[in-house]
Amino acid sequence: MNHLTAAEMIAIKRDGGALDRQMIEDLVSGITDNSLSDAQVGAFAMAVRIRGMNIDETVLLTDAMRRSGTNISWNLDGPVVDKHSTGGVGDTVSLMLAPMLAACGAFVPMISGRGLGHTGGTTDKMESIPGYITSPTDDRFHEIVRTVGCAIIGQTNDLAPADRRLYSIRDVTGTVESIPLICSSILSKKLASGTNVLAMNVTTGGGAFMSNLEDACELAKTITDVAQGAGVKCHSLVTDMDQPLGSAAGNALEVQYALNYLQGTREDRMHQVVIALGAMVLVDSGLASDAQSAVMALEKSLSSGLALEKFAQMVTALGGPADFVESSANYLVKASVVRNVTADVSGWVSGVRAKEIGMTVVVLGGGRTQPGAPINWSVGVNQLPSVGDKVEPSTVIAQVHAATEDAASIAEKRIRAAISVSETAVVPRKVLIDN
Ligand code: URA
Repeated sequence: MNHLTAAEMIAIKRDGGALDRQMIEDLVSGITDNSLSDAQVGAFAMAVRIRGMNIDETVLLTDAMRRSGTNISWNLDGPVVDKHSTGGVGDTVSLMLAPMLAACGAFVPMISGRGLGHTGGTTDKMESIPGYITSPTDDRFHEIVRTVGCAIIGQTNDLAPADRRLYSIRDVTGTVESIPLICSSILSKKLASGTNVLAMNVTTGGGAFMSNLEDACELAKTITDVAQGAGVKCHSLVTDMDQPLGSAAGNALEVQYALNYLQGTREDRMHQVVIALGAMVLVDSGLASDAQSAVMALEKSLSSGLALEKFAQMVTALGGPADFVESSANYLVKASVVRNVTADVSGWVSGVRAKEIGMTVVVLGGGRTQPGAPINWSVGVNQLPSVGDKVEPSTVIAQVHAATEDAASIAEKRIRAAISVSETAVVPRKVLIDN
């Protein structure tokens, strides 16, 4: 076999050509074993970002990245399912949906990611629970999924290592927003984790990586096609991320939000997304015969308290406090400064810019500006309004949780700039856009 050099393969993509199987295999091996330099990986990512990839190349890239590390296999008495989001702000869906699906009889080995740019990460959120371990041994992970039904953990060292390196380079080279790169990144990990069913939440709007609706729909279709081609039952939902999905953004604040949801306090936009994704999983896995019975099963998992119980069991099994659910306020770290931000005019909320809210959390210390940096779990923003809400000058439009008064003042300024109020009534934004 005549192998080309990395520079030759990168140049083919740079000039708009298609890469064949051998080239993609060689590039992925070079990413995994570090024989490609960071500069070469960055150049490859930029060539793909600009020139794109056809569906055959995307399938080959996904498959090569999946095979770059371990592939987990499950031998369980029921369907192995998962859900993933392409990223957002106040997107706490995984924390609620994993135990809800487990309560409905599915097994949910959820390997989640950390915060990225302005978006929050499920792994970081779970780590705000004292003692919770997001990197258990393989045996323990298997055991918890088998006995509890769900386990939310972080990416392991040997799952799709090519993605881990490519992703960290994309993150700092302006190459995140690429359909083939996002698709192969997400699916290489999901396919390696051994799921049979996958529900994808593809976000769109100012707070999403695919801000444009057309691109989001194309990404949704690409992910669905590639996953189904690889034998996974997959459906994608396109949802609005122009405003945060829930009213809280920040790690410990989102854990409390998820607990409130599981205990019965529900916001309509969040609930619509949780139920729509959950119903897709239950129907695709055969646990429900149609969407209506799937919705009933999901609602029952909440009203019976079983989803909350599954969450509690998962937390304890992964090292968290045994009474976390009943006494979360005693365990979740609290910020030193909590400040209410009130509206300064009367009117209707016309925008809550998700990216700006996400960046406010990062600036408060709840996200990272350097890979691997520590984060402050206590900080963030909650009590955010929704587009269409009526406000008066005394209405709280956000509560800032900050480490210092100065940080709270900076956050308050950003939040005021992120939330706009109109003098005339505003129609709420639809959250479910396409499926
Ligand atoms: N999430 C991922 O895991 N990868 C991407 O490229 C984008 C979101």
